[in-house]
Amino acid sequence: MSQQHQDLIDRDRKVTFHASTHLRDFAHGDAPGRVITGGKGINIVDMDGREFIDGFAGLYCVNIGYGRTEVADAIYKQALEMSYYHTYVGHSNQAQVELSEKILELAGPGMSKVYYGMSGSDANETQLKLVRYYNNVLGRPQKKKVISRMRGYHGSGIASGSLTGLKAFHDHFDLPIDTIRHTEAPYYYHRAAEQEGMSEQEFSAHCATQLEEMILAEGPDTVAAFIGEPVLGTGGIVPPPEGYWAAIQAVLDKYDVLLIADEVVCGFGRIGTNFGSHHYGIKPDLITVAKGLTSAYQPLSGVIVGDRVWKVLEQGTGEYGPIGHGWTYSGHALGCAAGLANLEIIEREGLTANAAETGAYLQQQMQATFGDHPIVGQARGVGMLASLEFSANPAKRAHFDPSLKVGPRIAAAALEENLIARAMPQGDILGFAPPLITTRDQVDEIIARAKRAVDKVTDELTASGDLC
Ligand SMILES: Cc1ncc(COP(=O)(O)O)c(C=O)c1O
Repeated sequence: MSQQHQDLIDRDRKVTFHASTHLRDFAHGDAPGRVITGGKGINIVDMDGREFIDGFAGLYCVNIGYGRTEVADAIYKQALEMSYYHTYVGHSNQAQVELSEKILELAGPGMSKVYYGMSGSDANETQLKLVRYYNNVLGRPQKKKVISRMRGYHGSGIASGSLTGLKAFHDHFDLPIDTIRHTEAPYYYHRAAEQEGMSEQEFSAHCATQLEEMILAEGPDTVAAFIGEPVLGTGGIVPPPEGYWAAIQAVLDKYDVLLIADEVVCGFGRIGTNFGSHHYGIKPDLITVAKGLTSAYQPLSGVIVGDRVWKVLEQGTGEYGPIGHGWTYSGHALGCAAGLANLEIIEREGLTANAAETGAYLQQQMQATFGDHPIVGQARGVGMLASLEFSANPAKRAHFDPSLKVGPRIAAAALEENLIARAMPQGDILGFAPPLITTRDQVDEIIARAKRAVDKVTDELTASGDLC
């Protein structure tokens, strides 16, 4: 590493509190740092000019790839014209109007309005407020609980972090808050001993029964909403078992429970359809979007409100006056301009179709390369989302001893190959979510590098006697 790069990292250690980082190790120089200076296509470059394939598109967000001057130009043009004015009390900007029209067109029938935020977490905070307001207006003040899933990921705030169903996001933060519950994860590979022998369809029915039992135990008149990602993301990149969403939706309909589809990862093409909901036939009342909305060229998120909820929001403001909800930066003109330019690129370059086609190739090659690998329990995914779950004994789906840190070690070995893949936070799982511009040749390269990394750690585990 160059002296200049090292110096900047050392300064960073003294002054920055990094997300999802071992704070002590980083501050004291015991965990690595890296300064990223640029990117082009699916590659990013660090301060020393070292180039990496970004197999995770940042945090599954840089869907159009890096270095798109067209988006930078749109942001610049908007900044020169009008960088900001608030959107309270009916104020707007042209980019916001056009972006809302585009989002609603992509979302399809049944969706009515878009409310903007800056992150997936804040958008889910908005969702929770809307759900409360909705039931208060309807005269059902006790209908407030929200059911999420274990291993779901919905953000890092007090409420959105409570929706998240991952241990590290709750422990030592006194979460979840008391109106949030977590039901079984749709994780067929992890099914428990008593579910052995179940088909995927049967497991989906089991998940729906678990949900129904939870609603009945809580009291249907206290359960307001259910939130789920079409494909479980940060919890392990796990496509749902067959029939899952139809079974879940039937239970929600039966007990008049709203459905929030968290499309922060799946939205805008990642799994080969405009929204993950379209792929799985989900009919949400509310949709959360972020990431792929701007491909991260600006921070922007949105809550797409369906007709059913919108009608009640109108009724509420008719009774109580203007809604008491707003962020200073809601509908920020620079974010909306970036969103428009991004969605234009996705449409013009057919990136959603590419996610379907090249995504199918990615899945096929993952299976071919890792399906029978001695430490891969499952290679899975859909579209441009894929993961490898490692196992000490694939036939028995045995987990590795967590202290071996197999997932992080493989991610580190991939980094040595100049490939970024993500060690998912719970379990030994390596995630892939390349930009939607990725070509077949690039898929081959990602897989070749990943294979060398997995083989390297397999050799180490064999040498240390940690393979059964
Ligand atoms: C499905 C989902 N929802 C919400 C969030 C939170 O988004 P943000 O990190 O922008 O707050 C994420 C982030 O990864 C996510 O994957």
